[in-house]
Amino acid sequence: MTIEQVAVIGAGSMGHQIAMLSALAGLQTNVQDVNLDSLDEAKTKLTKIMDKWVRKQKITAEARDDAFGRLMFTTDLREAASDADFIIEAVVEKLEVKRKVLTELDEVAPKHAVFATNSSTIVSSLIADATSRPEKVCNMHFFFPPLVMDCVEVVKGDHTSDETTQLAMNVCDQMNRTAVLLQKEISGFVANRILFAIQKEAMALYEEGYADFKDIDKITRKALGHPVGPFELMDLSGIDVGYYVMQQRYAESGDPNDQPSRTLIEKVESGEFGRKTGKGFYTYSHKVNN
Ligand SMILES: NC(=O)c1ccc[n+]([C@@H]2O[C@H](COP(=O)([O-])OP(=O)(O)OC[C@H]3O[C@@H](n4cnc5c(N)ncnc54)[C@H](O)[C@@H]3O)[C@@H](O)[C@H]2O)c1
Repeated sequence: MTIEQVAVIGAGSMGHQIAMLSALAGLQTNVQDVNLDSLDEAKTKLTKIMDKWVRKQKITAEARDDAFGRLMFTTDLREAASDADFIIEAVVEKLEVKRKVLTELDEVAPKHAVFATNSSTIVSSLIADATSRPEKVCNMHFFFPPLVMDCVEVVKGDHTSDETTQLAMNVCDQMNRTAVLLQKEISGFVANRILFAIQKEAMALYEEGYADFKDIDKITRKALGHPVGPFELMDLSGIDVGYYVMQQRYAESGDPNDQPSRTLIEKVESGEFGRKTGKGFYTYSHKVNN
């Protein structure tokens, strides 16, 4: 099957950049979000990033304009998905919202269309049965920010057909992203399981008063050679996103150790989501457009 038309559902931190990757790959790409502000913000951010790419000669002005010509933004799910061959779901990390979106997509998308979820943790078997085509549902986990990070975890569930998995791998290839296939489902996949273990330990050291978060970041960078510390990374990817991920993990495991920590709950309750709100663990002089 040849992929010509892609739809990306959710235009937040991840969705808008995944859509740009798709448009840059030469694919006709519709981006849908229920929130008009998210779509407007997506356009503004992408214009800034692509203009910067042109200034840095990463792409030509013509390639940028052609890619924007292939992008369409809409709040209407039917308009976004009715001609799509491949649909990437990147809405908020809440199981019930994702299930609802997939059920709606199942009604409006062509029968042949494949659904790939960009969830950070939720395995596709938890949402595939919300559709009439579980064999066409898989995970396709991009990393933040997708226009920079060259890795995608493609995860095959027991319900996923080989053809679907291969198609998802091919789409990554077309988008110039290195795809890695996980043959079996596990919540959080590979990268985030390793990352969560680091973040959990860092949080415990901080909450128990062994070191300040800035010093934990410094040690992680200087001694372990990580490009960013765990708290810097939480600010970058969104403290709210990390919080939802932990809630989901706890809902699945029932293990109290998987619950969001006291500090995470406080940050979320006070609206300190990290760079996107200007404050998280660190304070930023202005809201950062990725
Ligand atoms: N932020 C990260 O570092 C990261 C990395 C990899 C994967 N993910 C995953 O990507 C997904 C999106 O995360 P994000 O960081 O972009 O979140 P975000 O909060 O920045 O964006 C989510 C978007 O979904 C939209 N939305 C909510 N309900 C919707 C619906 N019913 N239909 C259409 N749009 C809807 C919101 O308006 C918002 O614009 C999540 O599943 C998350 O786990 C996030």
